[in-house]
Amino acid sequence: MNDPANPAAWLIPKPSENRPVVAAVGGDGIGPEIVSAALTCCRAADAPIDIVEPLAEAAPLVQGAPLSESLQATLSGADAILFGAADSGPSGRHISILRYLRWGVDTYVNLRPAVRLLASAPGEAARADANLVIVRELSEGLYPGREGDLAEFQRRWPEFRDALGRPIPDSGRFALRIVTEQGARRIARYAARLAAWRKQRGYSAGHVTVVAKSNVLRQSEGMFVSICREEIEQLGGVEHSMVLVDEAARRLVACPETFDVIVTSNLFGDILSDVAAELMGGMPLAPSAGLGDGPAYFESCHGSAPDIVGQDRANPAATILSSAMMLAYLGFAEHAERLVSATVATIDAGCKTPDLGGSATTTSFTDEVCARLTA
Ligand code: NAI
Ligand code: MG
Repeated sequence: MNDPANPAAWLIPKPSENRPVVAAVGGDGIGPEIVSAALTCCRAADAPIDIVEPLAEAAPLVQGAPLSESLQATLSGADAILFGAADSGPSGRHISILRYLRWGVDTYVNLRPAVRLLASAPGEAARADANLVIVRELSEGLYPGREGDLAEFQRRWPEFRDALGRPIPDSGRFALRIVTEQGARRIARYAARLAAWRKQRGYSAGHVTVVAKSNVLRQSEGMFVSICREEIEQLGGVEHSMVLVDEAARRLVACPETFDVIVTSNLFGDILSDVAAELMGGMPLAPSAGLGDGPAYFESCHGSAPDIVGQDRANPAATILSSAMMLAYLGFAEHAERLVSATVATIDAGCKTPDLGGSATTTSFTDEVCARLTA
């Protein structure tokens, strides 16, 4: 159980009292193919969950239209949601679901683990000593985009000055980056609890690195850092340090073993977690979880891959690993671990989809994972 590749080390479980209900939503692009593959694997692992597919029989979603109340009720009433991908372009119809899962359900924690999984990892980046989890704040910061026109800003707030006392330019655009005390406290609390959870079980030493740019953004990032310190110290039992985001990016490449739990704001977490995905063996292997006080959702870190839709060549590994995180979250650590082991063993045995340099199809890869699960 002390294996860092055990998904029980990546998040704090929240078992439900009854047999959990999982709502599966494929979404756009390759989403339906990879979610279907992950569900097949969950079934082969004999995971004790009930799966509903709310979009299977429903009328197709209309782009830009709000989600129906019944779909919202199904999603918010589930214990967990397994999501494929949403396309933000004109052909995407499921971005409203992703928005609902993030802002509607208020999943403010975005968890992205980066651990060594593959023996046969491509490139040198997949370091044997990576065993970290990025806790990205998902509800504020620069997202959702609050942007506008600088001329309008200046007209409404003429006395506004930058840190050097200069007025802002009178043409161009601005984006607002928001840090609230409540937002910082709840993400810091989760990171501290996760580090304590990992330490208690011997998964890691129990250290939270607060990643910020507080040397430049003294007010917003300064507040984020001091609230994180307060919350971590209040929980007790785990160490903490602060690392500036540019140095954190360098360390993720040079010495990822120096990290345990990283807590950071939305944009930094978005970027750093893509860097960290390389430690895992690349985006096709990078899973994620979105957690809040309501239902949690699980999805790969990659997008809808519109260039390979319908060709049976999508790598379902990241979605299968996301479903393993989901099972760990629901309290089924052993099923989760088996799912990860079977996926990793399949790739290490040379059964690789084209993105990893092989010739396996989505179907043959999934069959191989299932064969290992049922052997
Ligand atoms: P992408 O991750 O969809 O694709 C980048 C490249 O990686 C493509 O060549 C694609 O074929 C390949 N790829 C991605 N996943 C793969 C898989 N499982 N197996 C094999 N190859 C895979 O990123 P891109 O092209 O920047 O975005 C495409 C769309 O996805 C955009 O509309 C974007 O907004 C959206 N997107 C959605 C996300 C989500 O649903 N959470 C996350 C990231 C992007
Ligand atoms: Mg990203």
